[in-house]
Amino acid sequence: MSNYHIKHLEEYYQVYRKSVRNPEGFWEEIAEEHFMWRKKWDNVLSWDFSKPEVKWFEGAQLNITENCIDRHLATRGEKTAILFEPNNPSDPAEHITYNQLHQRVNKFANVLKNQGVQKGDRVCIYLPMIPELAISVLACARIGAIHSVVFAGFSSTALATRINDSDCKMVITSDGSYRGAKTIDLKGIVDEALEICPDVNTVLVVKRINTDINMVTGRDHWLQPLLDAASTDCEPEIMNAEDPLFILYTSGSTGQPKGMVHSTGGYMVYAAYTFKNVFQYREKDVYWCTADIGWITGHSYIVYGPLANGATTVMFEGVPSYPDFGRFWEVVQKHKVTQFYTAPTAIRALAKQGLELVEKYDLSSLKVLGSVGEPINEEAWHWYNDNIGKKNSPIVDTWWQTETGGIMITPIPYVTPTKPTYATLPFIGIQPALMDEEGKELKGNQVDGRLCIKYPWPSMARTIWGNHQRYKDTYFSAYKNMYFTGDGALRDEVGYYRITGRVDDVIIVSGHNLGTAPIEDAVNEHPAVAESAIVGFPHDVKGNALYGYVILKDTGESRNHDNLRKEINQIITEHIGPIAKLDKIQFTSGLPKTRSGKIMRRILRKIAGNDTSNLGDTSTLLNPEVVQDIMDNVL
Ligand code: PRX
Repeated sequence: MSNYHIKHLEEYYQVYRKSVRNPEGFWEEIAEEHFMWRKKWDNVLSWDFSKPEVKWFEGAQLNITENCIDRHLATRGEKTAILFEPNNPSDPAEHITYNQLHQRVNKFANVLKNQGVQKGDRVCIYLPMIPELAISVLACARIGAIHSVVFAGFSSTALATRINDSDCKMVITSDGSYRGAKTIDLKGIVDEALEICPDVNTVLVVKRINTDINMVTGRDHWLQPLLDAASTDCEPEIMNAEDPLFILYTSGSTGQPKGMVHSTGGYMVYAAYTFKNVFQYREKDVYWCTADIGWITGHSYIVYGPLANGATTVMFEGVPSYPDFGRFWEVVQKHKVTQFYTAPTAIRALAKQGLELVEKYDLSSLKVLGSVGEPINEEAWHWYNDNIGKKNSPIVDTWWQTETGGIMITPIPYVTPTKPTYATLPFIGIQPALMDEEGKELKGNQVDGRLCIKYPWPSMARTIWGNHQRYKDTYFSAYKNMYFTGDGALRDEVGYYRITGRVDDVIIVSGHNLGTAPIEDAVNEHPAVAESAIVGFPHDVKGNALYGYVILKDTGESRNHDNLRKEINQIITEHIGPIAKLDKIQFTSGLPKTRSGKIMRRILRKIAGNDTSNLGDTSTLLNPEVVQDIMDNVL
C-alpha cells in the first residue's frame, strides 16, 4: 500500500524522504493505487526547467470527472457531495448527492455540447458561489473543454481582458448575485465586457436573483430550459494526462494578467493527495473552505481535491458579515463542519467583533482549522486557535500559489507540531530551497532568502496561456534550474519555514494578489494624472492596503483633491474591481527614481508604512530632494 494517508510525524519524515529520493516511484505508486485511469502512463515524469517543460504521467488517459464523481457512485451515491449554504440564512441549504451531481454535470455537459463547445475550447465562467459554478466547471472537464473561471468581483474590463486573452467563445453567468444585503448585476457586467469581446457567440445565463435583464437574441440563453431538454447521459471525454484542464488568471508584476495553465493528471493527483492529508479528511467529515471558486483555493480545495476523495464539500454563497459577523460560526454549527479553511483577513475581521458572536454557537464539531492566502500574524493565529479551535484543533497554515496548483508548505494536522506564523514543513514531494540575491543556495537552518522549488511536483502550472516566454522569464530565469516563487521565506532552527512576503511588485490585499502595474495603468488613465506609483502598507484587517503616490499634470488649474481621489478609485473599480481601490492617495510633485529612471518603491513603501528610520542611501537617486517632500506630506 502506498502512503496515501499520513498519520504521525515519523511517518511524515519517512514518506517525505522516500518522495524526494525517488519522486517518480513515489508519485507512480500514489497515482496507481488511488485513481481511475483509462490508460496507464508510459513515463512518470520528464522535465527540463531550462525550457521549461514538465510532463507528468505522459501517455496516460483519464477523465477527472470520472475520478471526482463516477467512481464514487457505487459506494457513495447517496452521500452529499456538495452542501450548498445560500446567502440568506433562512433559505434552505441544498444537499447535492453524488448521484445528483452526476446527473447535473452530465446534463450541463450535454448543454455545452449542444451549444457547439468542443474538446480544447475555452469557456469563461463568471458566476457567484452557487452550485452551477461547481457544476459548470465539472461539465467543462467532462467534455474536455478548458474552463477559465473569472472571480465574479472583477470588473467588466478585467473580465473582457481575460475572455480575450484565452479566446473564450462562451461565457456562463447569472442574472445577478447576492452579496449580503446587496445584489449585483452580473449580467450587466458581462454585457459591458462583451462589447469588446467579438468572438463570444454564446452566453448561458443561470437564473439566481430573478431580475429583469437584457437578453441578446441569438447570443444569450437561459440555462434552465436547455438543461431540462438535455440528457443525463454523457460519456466522459478521454483526456491525456497533460491536456490542459483549466486556465486561471493571476496578477503579475506587469500589466496583462497571467493565464496559468493547469494539466489534468498531475493536478488531480496532487490536489487529491494534499486534500486528504492536509485536512486529514475522513469519510463522515463535512469540510468547508470559505474561498471563492474564482480563486485557485476554490478550484483545488472546494471542487477537485474534495470530490476526488469522495468528500462532502460546503459551498457558501454569502459573506462573513451577513446577517451578522456570527455567520461563519452559525454555519459551522448548523452543518457540523469538521474542517474549516479560511483566510487571515477574514480571521482578523472576525476577531474585531465581540466574542459573544462566537460563543453563541457550538463549534465542537471542528477538528482542523486552515489558513491560506497571506501570512497569518501572531495575534490572528492565537485568536483563531483559542476561540475557534478551543486549543483542540490544529491550525494548518498552508502556503501555496495559483501557479503551484496545490498546497506546498504546511503542517499536517495531528502530525506536525504547529508554530504560530510558520507554514512549517514542506509537503510530501516538495523540495524547497532558499536562495540569496546572487543566486547561491542558502544551506542549513536559520537562514533567510528567496523561496524556490528545486524539483517538479505534479500540479505545477505548465505554462502561461499564449505566452510561454513569460512563463520562463517569470518563474525560471531568476535562478538556474529552479522554480522561483516570488516570495521571501526564512527557515528556523528546526527547519520550519516562515513566509515573509512577496519580494516582487505583487501586493496581497485581503488575501487577493494584486499587481502594482495594472493598478498604476488604471490610475494613469485619469486625464489629470501624469504618473503614479502604488505600494502596499500594513493594515490591521486586510494585511496590506494600497497607497498611491500620484503626480498630477500641470494644467495651471487647481482641482479638488478629494474629488480626484474618488475619481481615481472609480477608474480602478471599472478597470480591475473594488478590491484594488487605494486606501490612501498622496499627490506629490515627484517620485524617487534611480538614474536609470526606475521608481524606488522600497523608499515609497517605507514612507507609506511609517517606517522612515532607515531609508537607506538616497544619495544615488536622480532626485533625492523629493524624498523629504514626500515624507513631509505623508498621509
Ligand atoms: O505570497 C504568497 C501568499 O499568496 C501568494 C499566492 O497568491 P495566489 O496565487 O492568489 O494564491 C493564494 C492561495 C493559494 C503567495 O505567493 N500566500 C499564500 N498562502 C500563504 C501566503 N503567504 C504566507 N502564508 C501563507 N500561508
